[in-house]
Amino acid sequence: MDKKTIRDVEVAGKKVIMRTDFNEPLDERTGHLTDDIRIRAAIPTIEYLVNHKAKVILCSHLGRPKGKRELLYSLQGVAKRLSELLRQEVRLVPDCIGAVAEEAVSRIQDGDVILLENLRFHPGEEQGDPAFAEALARLGELYVDDAFGTAHRAHASIVGIAKHLPAVSGLLLEKEVMTLGGVLQNPVHPFGLLLGGAKVNDKVALIENVMSKVDHIIIGGGMAASFLKAKNYEIGRSLLDGNVEVASYLIQKADKHGVKIHLPADVVVTDEIKHSSPAEIVPVGTIPPDKRIADIGPLTVSQFRKVLEKCKTVFWNGPMGVHEIPQFSESTFAVAGIIAGLHATTIIGGGSTAEVVTSLKLNEHMSFVSTGGGASLEFLSGQMLPGVAALLDR
Ligand code: 3PG
Repeated sequence: MDKKTIRDVEVAGKKVIMRTDFNEPLDERTGHLTDDIRIRAAIPTIEYLVNHKAKVILCSHLGRPKGKRELLYSLQGVAKRLSELLRQEVRLVPDCIGAVAEEAVSRIQDGDVILLENLRFHPGEEQGDPAFAEALARLGELYVDDAFGTAHRAHASIVGIAKHLPAVSGLLLEKEVMTLGGVLQNPVHPFGLLLGGAKVNDKVALIENVMSKVDHIIIGGGMAASFLKAKNYEIGRSLLDGNVEVASYLIQKADKHGVKIHLPADVVVTDEIKHSSPAEIVPVGTIPPDKRIADIGPLTVSQFRKVLEKCKTVFWNGPMGVHEIPQFSESTFAVAGIIAGLHATTIIGGGSTAEVVTSLKLNEHMSFVSTGGGASLEFLSGQMLPGVAALLDR
């Protein structure tokens, strides 16, 4: 990576503000975290700083509290989990700027770790407010960005703060950039891109950027409906988001590049996307006009398996169906299992795809599970992420 990392700077005795992405999924009823993949992923950098006698000041967002203090989005549960994983106390400071934070920082010793309360309790964070960035920067002497999952946001704690302090990468951010960058630069062929999720628009830039590097594009999830429609299939009441033209354009472009696009041969359809709705499997040629696509079917899973088994590199982003509802989740779980068993470099995009892999305890069977959902998509789309651009060049 052409950016400086914590290995390139002296951290001993310094007050280090480390931006992490502890934006874990929450159970909205109980407020409990339902995953800890991002907390775990930050541990190597925190331990590096602790072992090198830095004073570690962690900061993060959680959820979208929209600039207001909301108990549900407190980082209290994160502080508790961090204390367990690090086996040392991580105290939550009730605010991330101002007198409370400054007082807490003035008391920390070398090797201590504290966590500032949710950055997004202040509107200045998402607005990229220079005064908020300055107030945050005042707490430290060095800035470490390890929040790959938020590197696509030009927020105050990501970009603004780097104007006030020397800014370097943490070990997670570095690993993400090196791994995802490696896939783009030097993939072992055949390279298969497996995409799902609801919207074609979210993936267009990615598909265009990797078109000249991939051999197979395999499409499931809600976005498959637009591609099927572009191929003149009746898709019933499936959601389209007006993306049929985009899908046609991508099909033509793939043709020109000699890239094969694989679409579902059968799908699971239903009346409504609800827990109580019965599921029915139909070939794509016979989707009833009053039904919606909710998942890909078993024939499609076996066809996708054959393509994936030929690949030496696979990047997967996006569920194959509405995986939160049991009767529409089978193919997403089946595909996760198929990818876990491949003899290939397997890279999993973050967000809901990473959550599926983690819930099935398959992380160890994948080459790399990214902690960035939107960030990994934007990175693979060839965009320079603001959070990476803000760091000091090597
Ligand atoms: C994510 O989960 O993608 C990041 O934490 C960014 O969150 P955001 O989409 O709310 O900015």
